[in-house]
Amino acid sequence: MSTPSARRLALDILRRTLDHKQDLQAAVDEVLNPVQAGPDKGLATELAYGYLRMRGRIDFLLSQLLKNPVQTSPIMKRILGVAMYELLFLSRIPDYATLDWAVTLVRERLDQTMGKVANGVLRSLLRLGLSVRFEEYYQTKTAGHDQFLSAWYSCPQWLARMWLGSYGKEQTQAFLQATLSAPPLGVRINRTHAQAETLRENLQPLQQDSSNWGFALTQWPEFLQHAVAEGAATRQSLAAQKIMDALGVEHWPSPVLDACAGRGGKTYLMSEQGKNVWASDVNVFRLRQLKAEGARLGFDIPAFRSQGQGPYPLRQTPRTIFLDVPCSGLGVLSRRPDIKWKRTAADCAGLVKLQEEILRAAADLLTSGGCLVYVTCTLNPEENEKQIDRFASLHPEFSRLRQAQSGPAEGLGEFFYGAVLRKK
Ligand SMILES: C[S@@+](CC[C@H](N)C(=O)[O-])C[C@H]1O[C@@H](n2cnc3c(N)ncnc32)[C@H](O)[C@@H]1O
Repeated sequence: MSTPSARRLALDILRRTLDHKQDLQAAVDEVLNPVQAGPDKGLATELAYGYLRMRGRIDFLLSQLLKNPVQTSPIMKRILGVAMYELLFLSRIPDYATLDWAVTLVRERLDQTMGKVANGVLRSLLRLGLSVRFEEYYQTKTAGHDQFLSAWYSCPQWLARMWLGSYGKEQTQAFLQATLSAPPLGVRINRTHAQAETLRENLQPLQQDSSNWGFALTQWPEFLQHAVAEGAATRQSLAAQKIMDALGVEHWPSPVLDACAGRGGKTYLMSEQGKNVWASDVNVFRLRQLKAEGARLGFDIPAFRSQGQGPYPLRQTPRTIFLDVPCSGLGVLSRRPDIKWKRTAADCAGLVKLQEEILRAAADLLTSGGCLVYVTCTLNPEENEKQIDRFASLHPEFSRLRQAQSGPAEGLGEFFYGAVLRKK
């Protein structure tokens, strides 16, 4: 039997994102865009995302089931890992079908002997039965709390240790739990669009939660595709919208320089709110996407390449500088589970330095009364509240107006931090 193509596609996505460090969504797009619409696309996406979310737990089980985990080839572990994800988390696929494709693929990529080993490992997993679905199994098989958290909540141990030290046991478990499932689908309604009110009424019954801008939805209805194409709506997580509400976006004075604008997710939220926004970013490709987003939404805003460390090529001074800074992304692991296997503690330290420099340049550019808004999508105090504490102590000319942090109780699965300061 040939290996069903959904598994080959999923393994290709994983190779690109884990071995070649490609962004997960970009890898999914590159691999799946040429594939005809159909069930393979959906299953490949589910396997790639699901495996990455659960990889820590799967690797722990593999370390128990393989005779020599350290010497087992990475490709063998990857194929077994995806097959284990199917066996443990996808009830609609019969076990025999999973064993069949996985053993066939191991034989094809390695050899007959390894095919037999793969068969043995997957059968041993099945013999463990329901026990591996409960946390008690991992509590009894791991040494220490960090290792347990890492296995059960599927995360690197350094992350579990950092969160435990920063947020305590209860919060850490809630943050980790949130990383294990996909966040709700978020949509922002373009309030300047003629269809905005009708769209809001139509989406109301489907909403799980809302912000001043849009909704979190349990499903993405067909009519929303048209609304997005026509510029009446934008995909944006509700947690991202809510941090803007929490930071009082309506009070920030224009013109606003969005100095890490990226593709314009938050830029156009501010434009839709009526602000005069200028966008800059170090990445020209993203700025091109931002201009295309503007064309879709009906805005033509100034956009220019500049590094956030300055100097900015500006003749006029903005009254607000909005910094949605590059960060370690540990608050959005539910949406981008590849990050937890790529990020290191050393990267976080490098990002803290970069953020400091971006903050310093913005502080220099603002004049008296100017507003500085800082946002991250991470859970790391060094990049969040400690970064702002350090900034405030080095810059007594700034006073703090607001600070916000999304929490697990909001149930949105994503976590943002932000602060607003004003130059005296
Ligand atoms: C968190 S993302 C911004 C997301 C965007 N605001 C949105 O809501 O869609 C951070 C952005 O910072 C940009 N960036 C990274 N290093 C930078 C630097 N040194 N100066 C300016 N922008 C930088 C990245 O290209 C990326 O677009």
